[in-house]
Amino acid sequence: MKFYLTTPIYYVNGKPHLGHAYTTVIGDVISRFKRLKGYDVFYLTGTDEHGGKIEKAARSMGKTPKELADEMVPYFKDLWRALNIECDFFIRTTMDFHEKRVAEIFEKLKDKGYIYKGSYSGWYCYNCEAYIPDDAEEVDGVKICPDCGGKGEFITEENYFFRLSAFQKPLLDFYKNNPDFVKPKSMMNKVVSFVEAGLRDLSVTRTTINWGIRVPSDPKHVIYVWFDALFNYVTALRDEFEKWWPADLHIIGKDIIIFHAVYWPAFLMALGYELPRTILSHGWWLVDRRKMSKHLGNVLDPHILIKTFGADAVRYFLLRETPIGQDGNFSHEGFLERYNADLANELGNIVSRTTNMAVKYFQGNLPAPGPITDAERRMEEEWKKVEEETDRAFENYEFSKGLARLWGYLRRINKYLVETEPWRTGAKEPARTSRILLTCFKALNASLKFIIPVMPEAGEKIKRALSSPGEYTWEAYDEKRKIEIPELLFPRVDKKEFFKEEIMEEKPKEEKNYVTIEEFFKMGLKVGKIVDVKPAPNADKLYLLKVDMGDHQRNLVAGLRKYYSPEELLGKKIVVVTNLKPAKIRGHESQGMLLAADVDGKPYLLIVPDEVPPGSQVR
Ligand code: ME8
Ligand code: MG
Repeated sequence: MKFYLTTPIYYVNGKPHLGHAYTTVIGDVISRFKRLKGYDVFYLTGTDEHGGKIEKAARSMGKTPKELADEMVPYFKDLWRALNIECDFFIRTTMDFHEKRVAEIFEKLKDKGYIYKGSYSGWYCYNCEAYIPDDAEEVDGVKICPDCGGKGEFITEENYFFRLSAFQKPLLDFYKNNPDFVKPKSMMNKVVSFVEAGLRDLSVTRTTINWGIRVPSDPKHVIYVWFDALFNYVTALRDEFEKWWPADLHIIGKDIIIFHAVYWPAFLMALGYELPRTILSHGWWLVDRRKMSKHLGNVLDPHILIKTFGADAVRYFLLRETPIGQDGNFSHEGFLERYNADLANELGNIVSRTTNMAVKYFQGNLPAPGPITDAERRMEEEWKKVEEETDRAFENYEFSKGLARLWGYLRRINKYLVETEPWRTGAKEPARTSRILLTCFKALNASLKFIIPVMPEAGEKIKRALSSPGEYTWEAYDEKRKIEIPELLFPRVDKKEFFKEEIMEEKPKEEKNYVTIEEFFKMGLKVGKIVDVKPAPNADKLYLLKVDMGDHQRNLVAGLRKYYSPEELLGKKIVVVTNLKPAKIRGHESQGMLLAADVDGKPYLLIVPDEVPPGSQVR
């Protein structure tokens, strides 16, 4: 019984955020759940360090790509440690054995005729490290990447190509025979449609990029970063390939489904390797309904949450809040409410109430329990059902559903306590009180099967408090076990305090991109007075503004129409960036930019006091 599971290897052009934590937590929970069931588990994560995106990012910071990677890797490892994520190996694609093996595999596919030489021109997105499709939107003659919204760059390359087109039929046959290859189903359907629409051969080398693995037989070519990266799942196994391959589960975000469900199996088929069993594609964490991403700069640092609520709470929230395939909107309010309701008030409260009674009435040693009544029989029957359903949900990676079911049962324990009132029978009727408490402890012990993988710290504390036998079933727990009161598992967090301390007064983050004072003074910032406002004829969000700059007038195009009326703008004095390269926006030239504060996407113009004359320098 082996289980080999992986996360994507993450790019090192930025620190990990809540989105990366999500995938890696899911993997850790599955890994712990399988281990508890007796599987021999190999859990792999790591970093993707080659390619133009890393090369560019490093250059802009004045570093070599390897320096950048070496600097970023500890942030990933620290975050995994802080979240109690235990992987069996952390692969970096700059490791020697990986580079060597990828080069070998490339040559092998070339020898087999699956990789051939050709030439390719097209629009390329460096952010996504992928060519932009022909039908993508074009703005001012530049193709826009449909995935990230960034501008493409037109490049022509002599390339090696992988014969992807030859795999259309084999892939479709494979999907047909393995309808659960991709979970959830909606994603499987998307993949099938993609392949049915036809596959073109895939360019798998670059000559425009330096940072990567060179083709041994033609070293001016660097192997495409995705070819390099995907093979990490194979190279990481080193001399244990036979033991672990095929991967039982690749966990990914839906942004990279085509790479994993189309290209990856095609590469493996070409090599004659077995295909992975399952690809689990999860949705995105959004902030203000936009995908949290380095590119948009709207990322959330999980360390703040871990510091206040603990790793367990972050892990629980990520799994419980949204079903795996769907997108989830992150909010601190939502987090706090779920923490207080599910962890402080429900689980924490039950553990504390029941262990307190056992210690208060019996010094932690339950006396011989009285007879089982209907109430206890019902509790046991219900547990059997909940156990089965939760287990099925977990096996199917439906953690939100499983945890909802389990928490339904925790509420049921509370109800049972209210019905049976052990605080009334107390030490006076020891047999009855013991039976009631024992029933609760049996239920809690059995729940540990699910609680420990999701919340290892709290799980261990409950396990110790109950002196659990380590077998998490109803039957395995009896009255001979010593009960202790654990330290408070989930202290309530006050909303006002939390928002005051953790969010509002958060210390300024250490700035990575300092500018020098000389660089700052290169910015032309001047006061201007709005003297004319016209709606742009062909764009319903834009105004065409005329601004008096003291010694001349300028035209600005500003997306303010949804937020300000012409009257509100006319006569106002504002701050204008004067040395921004003029840009054409919907056919109108904008000779600069005005400054506004952004509050959840809504602009608030920075208004200058009326006594300041137009043309005044801002510094
Ligand atoms: O794509 N919500 O790396 P990457 C949920 N190196 N998950 C998110 C997320 C969000 N807002 N943002 C990121 C790469 N993720 C390649 C992978 S694998 C052979 C190569 C998670 O750093 C999610 O798992 O852009 C997503 O697929 C992954 O991070 C992308 O990480
Ligand atoms: Mg990405």
